[in-house]
Amino acid sequence: MTVTQIGIIGCGNISDAYFKGAANSQLIQVKACADLRPEAAKAKAELYGVQALSVEALLADPEIEIVVNLTVPAAHAPVSMQILNAGKHVYLEKPLSAQLAAAREVIALANTKGLRVGCAPDTFFGASHQAARRAIDEGRIGRAVGGTVAVLSHGMEHWHPNPEFFFKRGGGPILDLGPYYITQLVNMLGPVTRVSGITTIGNPVRVVTSEPLKGTKIEVEVPTTVNGLLEFANGANLTLSASWDVWRHQRAPIEVYGTEGSLLVPDPNFFGGTPMISERDGEWKALDISAHPFGISNRTKGNGDPVADYRIVGVLDMATAIRQGRAHRASGKLALHVLEVLEAFERSSNEGRHIVIESPCDRPDAVPLGAGEEVFGAARELA
Ligand SMILES: NC(=O)c1ccc[n+]([C@@H]2O[C@H](COP(=O)([O-])OP(=O)(O)OC[C@H]3O[C@@H](n4cnc5c(N)ncnc54)[C@H](O)[C@@H]3O)[C@@H](O)[C@H]2O)c1
Repeated sequence: MTVTQIGIIGCGNISDAYFKGAANSQLIQVKACADLRPEAAKAKAELYGVQALSVEALLADPEIEIVVNLTVPAAHAPVSMQILNAGKHVYLEKPLSAQLAAAREVIALANTKGLRVGCAPDTFFGASHQAARRAIDEGRIGRAVGGTVAVLSHGMEHWHPNPEFFFKRGGGPILDLGPYYITQLVNMLGPVTRVSGITTIGNPVRVVTSEPLKGTKIEVEVPTTVNGLLEFANGANLTLSASWDVWRHQRAPIEVYGTEGSLLVPDPNFFGGTPMISERDGEWKALDISAHPFGISNRTKGNGDPVADYRIVGVLDMATAIRQGRAHRASGKLALHVLEVLEAFERSSNEGRHIVIESPCDRPDAVPLGAGEEVFGAARELA
């Protein structure tokens, strides 16, 4: 078995999930990391036993095949272009870019060079999300007709150590959290055809309450309350509410209504949870997710709740797909479609019309049953 050598650029908050995930897998190995702030790269390098390099030196290492780009959204496209121009595949955190035009350039460059682009989220690989998709594919709710999405909270300035980017271009609840929801909708229902939206900014200035920047003011650049409509190629239409201006609510993350029943889908920010199904007007019943991989809780959240979190499985799938000459699931093409959908809410609000989605995208292949959590130990690879 060939171990794929990885480089990581961007050694901030989320990088620990990738360093730890990589350490649990024998399919890939992190060889080096880099950051604009050399001290950040050095700290992670010491913690995880890898080399700290400059961005240029990391990109010049011939052994590194995939570079994982964990920089802030505004740097996603320029850093990805640098990685591709160095002849390496790139896998990056969501959103694909802070701007659709720049995202298109990244995908075009990768196509020209015959290199891969992979992009988070990979949470749709999770057991609960694959089980929900399977229930729809098996016709258990009939033909999907409608549904709702709710991603509502009171913002990010109370927990992230450096939360400014959440309120600048590329951030906001739509571009920051929307990718999880839209990606899971595409996983279940297929591509989106039209979007409409109305947006507003709830609070133009946010005050950071987390350490170490407590008291710092952030000028909000992006809408923080967005309500919209999504039409899918399969004929279904769903409402979406995304906000960082909500203290409390009682809505499920995703509900899908079909001609024969309804489906409740857990938070697509994580891999597990229990989807619920109601056939016709029957009681809610839990869907059995046990045959699907990536559903077993493997860590606890800040509030102590157990959670299934296998972030990095998208990178593992891409590394395996390169070896096997097949398409990878968390693809740049999917992420570009998702980004076009996300940007369309604000465009629709500004322009007062529906926005037709142009970038084509197929559903990613379902994750095979039985390709288990042991993929981290390389006992089995993703088919
Ligand atoms: N924090 C989370 O829980 C979380 C979860 C999922 C996804 N994400 C996504 O991951 C990405 C990073 O988020 P984060 O929370 O780790 O942010 P962060 O600010 O903690 O870290 C980003 C790092 O990237 C570095 N950086 C910025 N521009 C760079 C450049 N041009 N070259 C090299 N390094 C550069 C910064 O110095 C910083 O160390 C974002 O796109 C975010 O949406 C974060």
